[in-house]
Amino acid sequence: MKKVIVYNRLEKPVLERLKKNYDVHFFKDIDPKTNEDFLQHLQDTDGIMGLELNVNKELLDHAPNLKIVSNVSVGYNNLDVEELTKRGILATNTPGVLNDTVADTIFGILMAAARRIPELDQYVKSGNWQTAVAGPEYYGTDVHHKKLGIIGMGRIGQAIAKRAHLGFDMDILYHTRTRKQEAEEKYHATHCSLEGLLKQSDFVCLMTPLTPETEGMIGKKEFELMKKSAFFVNGSRGKTVVEKELISALQNGKIAGAALDVFDQEPIQPDNPLLTMKNVVTTPHVGSSTAETERAMSELAAKNLETGLNGNRPPNLIDSSVWDKVKQSF
Ligand code: GLV
Repeated sequence: MKKVIVYNRLEKPVLERLKKNYDVHFFKDIDPKTNEDFLQHLQDTDGIMGLELNVNKELLDHAPNLKIVSNVSVGYNNLDVEELTKRGILATNTPGVLNDTVADTIFGILMAAARRIPELDQYVKSGNWQTAVAGPEYYGTDVHHKKLGIIGMGRIGQAIAKRAHLGFDMDILYHTRTRKQEAEEKYHATHCSLEGLLKQSDFVCLMTPLTPETEGMIGKKEFELMKKSAFFVNGSRGKTVVEKELISALQNGKIAGAALDVFDQEPIQPDNPLLTMKNVVTTPHVGSSTAETERAMSELAAKNLETGLNGNRPPNLIDSSVWDKVKQSF
């Protein structure tokens, strides 16, 4: 029986199914550098699947039998893809199935920040609603007919643009390396320099993958370019932003507020100043976390894993050039 390590994330019914065909070992919240049981199973594992396991050279040196790493996420900043390809190990992710769900989450926290929903929820629940009409101190900011700047117009960025343009009559600016014809035609999105987008947008939404090029791409200079009335929304990864500069921009009124699903450190430290700011809405990295979508991602990741372990080309190879290499060794 082939051995599979499952790390942090996999929906239970999918895990149970895999157990029928593989020797499965599940690890959660361990330190993969020091956990002896994990390191021992790594020695002869055929596959790894799960969330946010840092698969780098050091880990790969402990896994001489590894054939495939199947991420249960669309992001793959946890993988050294170049090194995996060099060693002829397949790497896969779960694109597509989560686009609408993540777009709903990101648009939801954007709305929550602009209309101060969590703060007003607290106001009502804590018994402070004592006059018939809440006064101007509880007014929010309109979202409809405003300008939304999307940095990183991939599939999820486009699903956000769709909601914003068709549902909220927003003007869309976007910044990417390559222009997206479809977004321009369907959602009237305008391609823009990063500087232009930051200066003009009422809502700046960061959706780019984390890569060495995008790490820390939004810092002091970028927050200074933004309007004082603008909201910053992060649905990418915490490390695409210099978090201490975000905190300082919020503390100094350089921007009006933020909606954040991702953080530099996850879980976030309890003394992080972001947690005490009323104009900041937070969620615990749950962009894709609905019952339906988590299940779909687990199913897709399992399909990738099983196909790869059976010697066939998995549907969602991250670097397809690895396949020529792997095919030759069959
Ligand atoms: C979630 O952040 C993902 O990459 O799927």
